[in-house]
Amino acid sequence: MEKRTDETSAHKEMRSADWFGKSDKMGFVHRSWLRNQGYPSDYFDGRPVIGICNTWSELTPCNGHLRELAEVVKRGVIEAGGFPLEFPVTSLGETIMRPTTMLFRNLAAMDTEESIRANPLDGVVLLTGCDKTTPSTLMGACSVDLPTLVIPGGPMLNGRFRGECLGSGSFNWMVKEKTIVESYSAEDILEAEIGVARSAGHCMTMGTASTMACMVEALGLTLPGAAAIPAVDARKKVMAQLSGRRIVQMAKENLKLSKVLTREAFENAIIVNAAIGGSTNFVIHLLAIAGRIGVNLQLEDFDRIGSKIPLLANLKPAGKYLMEDFYYAGGLPVVISQLKQYLHNDAVTINGQSLGENNHAPVCYNQDVIATIDKPVQQQAGIAVLKGNLCEQGAIIKPSAANKELMQHRGRAVVFDTIEDYHARIDDPQLDIDEACVIVLKNVGPVGYPGMPEVGNVDLPEKLLRKGIRDMIRISDGRMSGTAAGTVVLHVSPESAVGGTLAFVHDGDMIELDVAGRRLHLDITDEELARRRAAWQPPEPMAERGYVKLHIDHVQQAHLGADMDVLRGGSGSKVTRDLH
Ligand code: FES
Repeated sequence: MEKRTDETSAHKEMRSADWFGKSDKMGFVHRSWLRNQGYPSDYFDGRPVIGICNTWSELTPCNGHLRELAEVVKRGVIEAGGFPLEFPVTSLGETIMRPTTMLFRNLAAMDTEESIRANPLDGVVLLTGCDKTTPSTLMGACSVDLPTLVIPGGPMLNGRFRGECLGSGSFNWMVKEKTIVESYSAEDILEAEIGVARSAGHCMTMGTASTMACMVEALGLTLPGAAAIPAVDARKKVMAQLSGRRIVQMAKENLKLSKVLTREAFENAIIVNAAIGGSTNFVIHLLAIAGRIGVNLQLEDFDRIGSKIPLLANLKPAGKYLMEDFYYAGGLPVVISQLKQYLHNDAVTINGQSLGENNHAPVCYNQDVIATIDKPVQQQAGIAVLKGNLCEQGAIIKPSAANKELMQHRGRAVVFDTIEDYHARIDDPQLDIDEACVIVLKNVGPVGYPGMPEVGNVDLPEKLLRKGIRDMIRISDGRMSGTAAGTVVLHVSPESAVGGTLAFVHDGDMIELDVAGRRLHLDITDEELARRRAAWQPPEPMAERGYVKLHIDHVQQAHLGADMDVLRGGSGSKVTRDLH
C-alpha cells in the first residue's frame, strides 16, 4: 500500500507545496484529482513540479511536433527527480490565423501568465516554434518570474525544389514575380509549395521564428546550441531531454527569469541579432519582453548597440544559406564566440554557466555560412532607427536587407489609405507611379489594422516588375515578415490611426529618407502639417466588443513593443487568493 504524503522540509522549499504539501482538506483535493492520472504518492513528496507549457496545435504547423517533444522533456524531468505536468496555451499559427497573429500575441501572453501563476508549478519549460509562440509565452512567463527555460522547436529541413534549396517564407514573396516574369504555371507553384515544407519544424530561413530561437539562446534561456538544431534531428530530442533535467535543478536553485534576463542579457541579444541578420520583428518582441521583466530598453538601444555590429551569418532572406546549413556550420555558438569582444560574456545563462563559458571555442565547419569577425559578410548590420517629422517616436529599417542605392532618396509619395486600397489599385496600369516613388501604406499599425500585420513589404506594381524593378522604398506603420527583404521602413510611430504624421501624407508629397543620417522627413511646412492635422478625422474603431476591443483600447505603440499598457511589468508568482 502507498503511504499518504506528509508535510516535509522538502515540501516547504517548493512553491507547489502550497498545493500538494498539506495534510488538510485542500491538500487532499489537490492531490486526489491529479491521482486519477495514476501518479504514485511519492510524486507529491516535495519534488519540483515542472510545467511544460506547450504551444502544440495542428493549426500551428510549425509546432505540430511539440507534443512528441514534450514527452522527451518529461523523460528528463523524471530522471532528475521532478514531476512534469504538460499544459496547453494559446498557439499562434502564423500562416493560418486571421487577421494576423500579432493581434493575439498579447492574448497568448496573458493566457501563459495566468496559466503559470494559477497552477502549482516550481519551474516552467516553454515549448515554442512559430513566430509569435516564443515572445508570447516568454512575455507571460516574465510576468510571473519562475525558473524558466525555453526549448525552441527547431527549423524545418532545407526546402528543395528542382535541384535547388528553397527558403520557406522567402519563396512566398516571389510568387507574383515568378508568375509574371518567369511565367511559372500553377503546376510549378504547386511543386514548389510541397518542396518548401518537407519536414516538421518552423521556417528555415532567418525569419522571425529562427530569429526568436536565436534570441532566447542569446538571452541565456536555452541550453547552448539549441536554436539551430533542425526539428527532426535526433539531437533536438537530446537537447529537450537535457533541458528537462536542467529545469529541475533550476527550480531547486530558484534560478528565476529575472536573474538571467538582466540589462546585459538584452544587450547581448541585440548584438547577436545584428550578426545573424535577424528579423525586424525582433525589435518589437524584445521591447515587449523587456517591459515585462522590468528592464529599461529603448528603441534607440537597438541602433546604438547593434547597428555597428558586423554581419556574420550568410542566411536567407538577405544571404545564401538556410538554418540547416547554419546548424551544420556550428550554429549560434560560433557566432557568439566570434562576437566576444562586443558581448557581456559573463552574463549568466540557465545552465548556471556564463555566456562566455558556454560558447568558449566552438569550431566553425563552414566559413561561407558563418564568417569570422575579421572577414564578415558585411561590415555593419543590425537595425537602423529613424527619426523625423514622419516618425516622431521612431521607425526602423534593416539596412542589410535594403537596396544600397535607395538608402538616401527623395521621392514622391504614392499613398494607400488601407491595405484593401493598396490591393485594389497597385496593379492598375493607370496608377501614377514609377520606381523613384515612395509607396506609403497607412492604417496597418497596432490600433489601426488592428494588430500590426506583416504587410510593410508590399509587392511592387506589376508594371514596374515587368520593367525589371525589384525594389522601391515602402513606408508603413506595419511590420514586415522576417523572411522578406527590401528597402522597407516599418513600425512608424505614432501610427496613422492615432494621429501620427503618417496619417497626413498626401499623394504627391515629397518624402526624404536618409538612413545614414537616421532621418525620415515629410517635406511640407509646419503650417501645412498643422492644417492637415486640424482637419483630420480618426478612422472608425475596428471593434466594439470582445478581445479586439480590449486590444484597441490598451495596446501601446510600436516603439514600446506593442504590449498592452495593463500587461507591462509583472505580478510575481504569488496567488492573490485561495480557498483556505
Ligand atoms: Fe511558422 Fe514561419 S510560419 S515559423
